[in-house]
Amino acid sequence: EKGNFDHFMLKEIHEQPQTIQDSLRGRLNAEQGTITLSGLEKIQDKLREANRIVIVACGTSWHAGLIGEYLIEELCRLNVEVEYASEYRYRNPIVSPKDVILAISQSGETADTLVALENAKKQGATIFGIVNVVGSSIARLADAGAYTHAGPEIGVASTKAFTAQLAVLQLIALKLAEIRGTISNELFQTLLRELDDVPAKVEWVLKNQVENIKAIARGYKDAANFLYLGRGYNFPIALEGALKLKEITYIHAEGYPAAEMKHGPIALVDESLPVVFVATKDVYHEKIVSNIQEINARKGKVVAVVSEGDDAINDMAEAVMVVPACHEIVAPLVAVIPLQLLAYYIGVERGLDVDKPRNLAKSVTVE
Ligand code: F6R
Repeated sequence: EKGNFDHFMLKEIHEQPQTIQDSLRGRLNAEQGTITLSGLEKIQDKLREANRIVIVACGTSWHAGLIGEYLIEELCRLNVEVEYASEYRYRNPIVSPKDVILAISQSGETADTLVALENAKKQGATIFGIVNVVGSSIARLADAGAYTHAGPEIGVASTKAFTAQLAVLQLIALKLAEIRGTISNELFQTLLRELDDVPAKVEWVLKNQVENIKAIARGYKDAANFLYLGRGYNFPIALEGALKLKEITYIHAEGYPAAEMKHGPIALVDESLPVVFVATKDVYHEKIVSNIQEINARKGKVVAVVSEGDDAINDMAEAVMVVPACHEIVAPLVAVIPLQLLAYYIGVERGLDVDKPRNLAKSVTVE
């Protein structure tokens, strides 16, 4: 079943051009300039009247949720909260019938997420599911939803399910912005085309960066710690890159907003610390360049995910992983790919069972 791949994780990383495409298919029509999301249209009235959206998830799905927050706030001008299901569930949250809850779960069986949703539903909130497994508990509980079409994910660390979640969140944010009238037609059309181009850009990374990333993995496989930094839409990608590394390689890693570094984590930086910057070209570019300079000044080893043609960072980093240039709003879908590969190849270099990391289960049905 793994085909030509050594592990399911690698196979699933390489499936992403297809699985992202599958999650967009029948929904995004870039030529006609339309998005069809029947599940979202079903709860249109609720969404028009909603006070806020609450995103509830765990782990990698929670990281997708953070990007969802940025997208929906920016494009739909609607207040969004992102909650860890385990916290939301126990802290007696304020829920009203005007809340729409976006539940994100690959398995659809995560116990904390499921119970958090049951509680919110009892209090009258509308539940919208973004779930990969058809007919799973969360999918059945939801009032409406949009499935991710990632196919079965066997590797314990989530890869293709995450990018499918991002693709669906992009569609939701764009469609909701259209429904709420908060996006110009010009931006809507631009982002549709950008989203439509994502599978080809992911394919480009998989074709052109694997050898480079393997070499980088060999260079850093013995590091004891890693720091991952990003800003804006790439901040949750820094968190996700750090989580993948922890899970697959057992190396301690932390993700931080790049500007938060000077409020503490910068104390960790010395010549033994690799610092991975998610630094694709966006409105924060100049700021992230100065964050890189701060690390360089303290002799940290900078590894950066950069946009093709960005020579400024090339000269400042010890190693770069290149991705095609894209609009900052879709950038996370492309920028995460090198970080998945980096975790994978470091895990392989360390001789670990990357498909079944110790202590982890594919679906967490205990609280
Ligand atoms: C990380 C990972 C976990 C899951 C989390 C939620 O690679 O896979 O962090 O994302 O356990 O699982 P789902 O999405 O099935 O609710």
